[in-house]
Amino acid sequence: MSILPVPDTAIIVVAAGSGTRLDGGAPKAFVGIDARPILRHALDRVFAAAPAQVVVVAPAGFEGDAETEMRAAAGERAELGVVVTGGATRQESVAAGLSALWGDVTTVLVHDAARALTPPEQIDAVARAVTHEAGVIPALPVVDTLKRVDDDRVVAAVDRAALAAAQTPQGFPRALLEASYAAAREQGAEYTDDAALFAAAGHEVRRIPGSERAFKITTQADLERARHLLGASAPRAPRVGIGTDVHAFGGEGDLWLAGLHWPGEQALSGHSDGDAVAHAIVDALLGAAGLGDIGQHFGTAHPEYAGAHADVFLGRTRELVADAGFTIGNVSVQFQANRPRFAARRAEAEQVLSALLGAPVSVTATTTDGLGFPGRGEGVAVTAVALVFPR
Ligand code: CTP
Ligand code: MG
Repeated sequence: MSILPVPDTAIIVVAAGSGTRLDGGAPKAFVGIDARPILRHALDRVFAAAPAQVVVVAPAGFEGDAETEMRAAAGERAELGVVVTGGATRQESVAAGLSALWGDVTTVLVHDAARALTPPEQIDAVARAVTHEAGVIPALPVVDTLKRVDDDRVVAAVDRAALAAAQTPQGFPRALLEASYAAAREQGAEYTDDAALFAAAGHEVRRIPGSERAFKITTQADLERARHLLGASAPRAPRVGIGTDVHAFGGEGDLWLAGLHWPGEQALSGHSDGDAVAHAIVDALLGAAGLGDIGQHFGTAHPEYAGAHADVFLGRTRELVADAGFTIGNVSVQFQANRPRFAARRAEAEQVLSALLGAPVSVTATTTDGLGFPGRGEGVAVTAVALVFPR
């Protein structure tokens, strides 16, 4: 049962071409830009625009793959999407899309999947500009100086001020677009885009500003441009993690804390050396990198860490974080305890911990005014915050 209102706009996304000029080893729509193929990027933006029926026109044999991409892009809007099989020419593919429109649709946008990075704002602007009588195309001014040529001979200059480079989506009132397609079929006429077909049937087409990002991926150079734009525009965000640890005094031997040996100080108890500072740092870093927690990687199921010191814990954590594709930014730690007196060895502790992680670690210490278990001298409580950057 539908939870969404039935839209009065449909977007036909033509993706049935073979991509001869790109020569990417698969139909063009399924060639990867990054981890995602051209079709997925196009559909991510189509579904980010105002709700519309989305008709994906797929190459024969690739309907299932198109459906997968459509569902992934649509999220909660999946019920607005449908996949149909395309034809031998772009015009036939659009015609196949038209035959799948819902009854309530009055405005139709036709969009090239190959214009994969077209901003949702451009899609919305075209939909808004369509009227009952006129179609709309987004277009950019022509920047190159143009020549009319005859083979290798320059015949004349062309005034570029009178020209515009057409993009998609192109938007039309449904009834007139369907009639225009029927007329073109009857005449056996082929047009390079929908606006030309619509205009040939005697209808008006207006233009609105296009966008540099709506360029069509035709060749390998275009694919490189798309990769560059995605890489430059979408840096992955840094991530933070938090870790806490508490250990009671009462272990065997001397105290180990913040990576340092404290001869003569009461030891902390624990599966390893009880270094609560090191353990809080481990949880903060694992949390930041989304790698689970210390129990999972170092718990009692891993007897090799029994009695281990901070160098083993932090060295292994540094490897795990790096393997997950992150660089450590910094770590800030605070411990609460009456003992040991920390100020005299702060610089030493920070140096040791920073060297182990290959990133700055700062450590602060506080007492708790006699309150709670740290105040009663029963143990230490530590909090750590870590920042990591995706590489
Ligand atoms: N298209 C389509 N059906 C066709 C031909 C093209 O749906 N029979 C679609 C393409 O998938 C593309 C858009 O129309 O999204 C623009 O076409 P174009 O860039 O020419 O893509 P291809 O035809 O795939 O590429 P080429 O011409 O290099 O083979
Ligand atoms: Mg083509």
